[in-house]
Amino acid sequence: MRIAVTGASGLIGSALTADLARDGHEVLRLVRRAPAGPGEVRWDPVRRALDPRALAGCAAVVHLAGAGVGDRRWTAARKKVLYDSRVLGTRTLTAALTAMDEPPRVLLCGSAIGYYGETGDRWVDEDSPAGTGFLAELVRDWEQAAHPAAAAGIRTAFARTGLVVASGGGAWGRLFPLFRAGLGGRLGSGRQFWSFIAMRDEIAALRHILDTPALSGPVNLTAPEPLTNREVTAAMGRVLRRPTLAAVPAPVLRAALGEFAGDVLGSQRVRPARLLESGFTYTYPEIDAAIRAALRTG
Ligand SMILES: NC(=O)c1ccc[n+]([C@@H]2O[C@H](COP(=O)([O-])OP(=O)(O)OC[C@H]3O[C@@H](n4cnc5c(N)ncnc54)[C@H](OP(=O)(O)O)[C@@H]3O)[C@@H](O)[C@H]2O)c1
Repeated sequence: MRIAVTGASGLIGSALTADLARDGHEVLRLVRRAPAGPGEVRWDPVRRALDPRALAGCAAVVHLAGAGVGDRRWTAARKKVLYDSRVLGTRTLTAALTAMDEPPRVLLCGSAIGYYGETGDRWVDEDSPAGTGFLAELVRDWEQAAHPAAAAGIRTAFARTGLVVASGGGAWGRLFPLFRAGLGGRLGSGRQFWSFIAMRDEIAALRHILDTPALSGPVNLTAPEPLTNREVTAAMGRVLRRPTLAAVPAPVLRAALGEFAGDVLGSQRVRPARLLESGFTYTYPEIDAAIRAALRTG
């Protein structure tokens, strides 16, 4: 299949495109710079520039582009970048898809469990309502921006991704150096739930959604059993064979990270109901194996 991917240079996008290419699929990368070859097409997500003809012949589009949520402090200007890169980017893509005579069969949009907001000890699944706060509202609008594609008959799914266990990036990527240096420890009370997913399972789940015609709408990409930050901390210490005594108090974390600290101090206990119902099998449902896999493969 010919599959278009936005955000292909990112943590998840680079792993996904490598996986697709290994299986013989043709990947068309939508890039924000001058294309480097025939496998790339230029788009400007925020200025709404994407020629629908460039997507001709694509069976699927995977949309992973968006400015890094944890890369910088959330100033008002940064929040606008985070918002526009996702919401306007999705509108740009959707407008191109709905203008095509023969659009791709499926649009798989990146999304995040941030949709649910703070859930404390309460389980949430795909039927749960959106939460409140900047991230929850951003994710809600981001998903809504793809609704015209669904209305036009394109199977549209939202990969509500949890904390991806990877050493090469994302929130988890920042933990590895700290824990390796023996500076790891629980964050805040440590009682908050972290709904994680191993990178290999993230990629397999994205492929599972692409390959499962019955799946549309939101799909939680998380391991079946979320753990508390305290449990995750213990697992990191066990696997890396390091002490984990350096607890970081919540106010210190807030001072260092600003509003984004809510992402690691907040609690989200997410059940991947739709993956489980549709027969998805996890390779690394348990945290120790997920961490070991991240150490081996990045
Ligand atoms: N990693 C996680 O744990 C996690 C968890 C939940 C949700 N997600 C979501 O899943 C998606 C992919 O995650 P990721 O970890 O692979 O992200 P990432 O490594 O930050 O990559 C995102 C990609 O988006 C593009 N991008 C960067 N800034 C942009 C901007 N201002 N406007 C438009 N595009 C921009 C870049 O690709 P190009 O330069 O090639 O355009 C970048 O490589 C993101 O939307 C993220 O929010 C990730």
